[in-house]
Amino acid sequence: MEQQLKQLEQEALAKLQAASNLKELNDVRVAYLGKKGPITDLLKGMGKLSPEERPKMGALVNAVRENVTAQLEERITILEEQAILEQLEKESIDVTLPGRKVRQGNRHPLTRVVEEIEDLFVSMGYEIAEGPEVEKDYYNFEALNLPKGHPARDMQDTFYITEETLLRTHTSPVQARTMELKKGEPIRIICPGKVFRRDNDDATHSHQFMQIEGLVIGENIRMSDLKGTLDALAKKMFGDDREIRLRPSFFPFTEPSVEMDISCFKCGGKGCNVCKHTGWIEILGAGMVHPNVLEMAGYDSKKVSGFAFGIGAERIAMLKYGVDDIRHFYTNDSRFLSQFHRTEG
Ligand code: DAH
Repeated sequence: MEQQLKQLEQEALAKLQAASNLKELNDVRVAYLGKKGPITDLLKGMGKLSPEERPKMGALVNAVRENVTAQLEERITILEEQAILEQLEKESIDVTLPGRKVRQGNRHPLTRVVEEIEDLFVSMGYEIAEGPEVEKDYYNFEALNLPKGHPARDMQDTFYITEETLLRTHTSPVQARTMELKKGEPIRIICPGKVFRRDNDDATHSHQFMQIEGLVIGENIRMSDLKGTLDALAKKMFGDDREIRLRPSFFPFTEPSVEMDISCFKCGGKGCNVCKHTGWIEILGAGMVHPNVLEMAGYDSKKVSGFAFGIGAERIAMLKYGVDDIRHFYTNDSRFLSQFHRTEG
């Protein structure tokens, strides 16, 4: 029996050494020290021994049990430490690895156009004004001399929220809003923003686009002031040797109204594909603020006068950067947008 015990001890110790994880250790514990294990069996069989042998054997079995238990605990500690080390190893960060490059973004081409124009006008003493994109019929049309049923409304069909509320079709309502706010005071503002029309999208049309509105009101503001201002704008955006030309046009909120062309920046006026062989490129609409618009906003049209203009940001960007499809501006394709990285100034 003693020998049997020794053998069991050797076996158990060998298996403890061989166990490579906590689960295997537990299996060994159950197999040798558990209630159904051989050591318990031996203890149970002690009743058959003679009274002299019994204490001797009892002490032996206990010694074996203690030894195996001590070994087991030692192995548990070792394997637990090992497991922690392995996990740390797995989770460790190699601080010498090269970092992941943070991709630097760049300004959207439309933002650039708007900011360039803002810079120019702020340098000439203008303030930047903003208005809501969901606008009242009154500011979008009526206050701009476009009463209900006016035929010129047809050119600016839009998305209506209610009979009296709509997505603004141009930035011109900011004119009327600012005039109301300034209550007869002189005004010099530039208003960039999104506008909307019920247009079918194609290479040159979009149901949403950007405009930049300008408005100047004061005593003795003349058409020549408008012309000088637009000339400065053309040169800033398209180069110092640009010439401008004003053609008569019609807008209900200006009288007289004009459209401005610039001499073609590509061919210098000789005629090419950019200017459709005319030498001129149409850029914006403008005019002298209509007396009705001034009066409706509480300005005395006999004392003050003003000029206004509206620029389409997409059109400027398309010309300036040679973009052939307006939809590129809205699709957020980084292959398109990243091209403006190099020229970022
Ligand atoms: N609001 C006009 C449009 O969207 C553009 C415009 C023309 C604005 C003449 C003006 C202006 O301020 O004077 O077609």
